[in-house]
Amino acid sequence: MVVAPEFDRRASAYGTGARVQQDAAAWLAEWLPRECGEPALELGAGTGFFTRHALRSARQLVATDASSRMVELGRAALPRAEWTVAGAENPPAAKFPYRAILTSSLVQWLNDPAAAFREWHGISAPDALLLGGWFVRGTMEEFVSACPESAPFRWRSAEQWLVLLNEASWKVRRSETKIFQLTHKSSAAMLREIHDVGAVAPRRLGAGRLRAALRRNDAKSRSQAGVVTPFVFLRVEAVRA
Ligand SMILES: C[S@@+](CC[C@H](N)C(=O)[O-])C[C@H]1O[C@@H](n2cnc3c(N)ncnc32)[C@H](O)[C@@H]1O
Repeated sequence: MVVAPEFDRRASAYGTGARVQQDAAAWLAEWLPRECGEPALELGAGTGFFTRHALRSARQLVATDASSRMVELGRAALPRAEWTVAGAENPPAAKFPYRAILTSSLVQWLNDPAAAFREWHGISAPDALLLGGWFVRGTMEEFVSACPESAPFRWRSAEQWLVLLNEASWKVRRSETKIFQLTHKSSAAMLREIHDVGAVAPRRLGAGRLRAALRRNDAKSRSQAGVVTPFVFLRVEAVRA
C-alpha cells in the first residue's frame, strides 16, 4: 500500500485545517444521488469530510484510508460508516460488488491512478456509480510553475483525467471544474497551511530555490486582500461500462 506519509503524521490537524478540501467535499456532495446504492465504498476518506455527506445517501458505507490515524479519527466522528485501513490501489472487496465508489481529494495523490481506476472497476457491479472529485492542473499554478520540483505528484489536466477514466471503462456522464481561491497574507503562509494538513510529500528543496519561488508567487499572485492561490477541483460522475 502506498500512502502519503505526511497525512498520517498530520491527521489530528487535518480536520480543522483542511479548508479547501472541506469546501471541495461539499461541492462534490451536490452530485450525490438521494440513494447511491449499496454497498458503497469510499476511498481516501480522511477524517470524513465527504463521508459525512455520503452517509446521507448510502446506508451501508465502507470508508477506507491508507492512514490508520485518519481512520481512527473518522471512525470516532462518524461511527455509522464501516471504517477500514486500506490503500485505494487495493481496496477491500465486498461480499457483493460495490454499487457506488466515492472519493474526494484523493486521486491526484495516486502513483498509478489508471491501475486504481481498473481495480475499482473490478470490484464494482455493472452500472455502478463512480462519484469522485480531486485537484487538477492549474492548482497553485504560479507556485508550481516557479518551482515544478515542489509538486508531490504529476499534475494532470481535467481532460487527461477524463481520458484515463474512459480507458479504465468508466463512462463519464458529467464533469465540471471549479476554482477555489484561498487568500493568505503571504506565499509562505499559504505553503505552511498546506504543509500543516499533510498535503506535501517529504522532499528536499534547496532553500534558495524555495525562497525565489515564494518571492515570485508573492509578486504574481498578490491582491489587496493578500496572496490569492487557485485550487482547481474536478468533479466527475461516471458509470461502470
Ligand atoms: C487530501 S486528503 C482527503 C481526505 C478526505 N477525503 C477529504 O475530503 O478531506 C487525502 C487522503 O488520502 C489518503 N491517502 C493518500 N494516499 C492514499 C492511498 N494510496 N490510498 C488510500 N488513501 C490514501 C490520505 O491518508 C488522506 O487521508
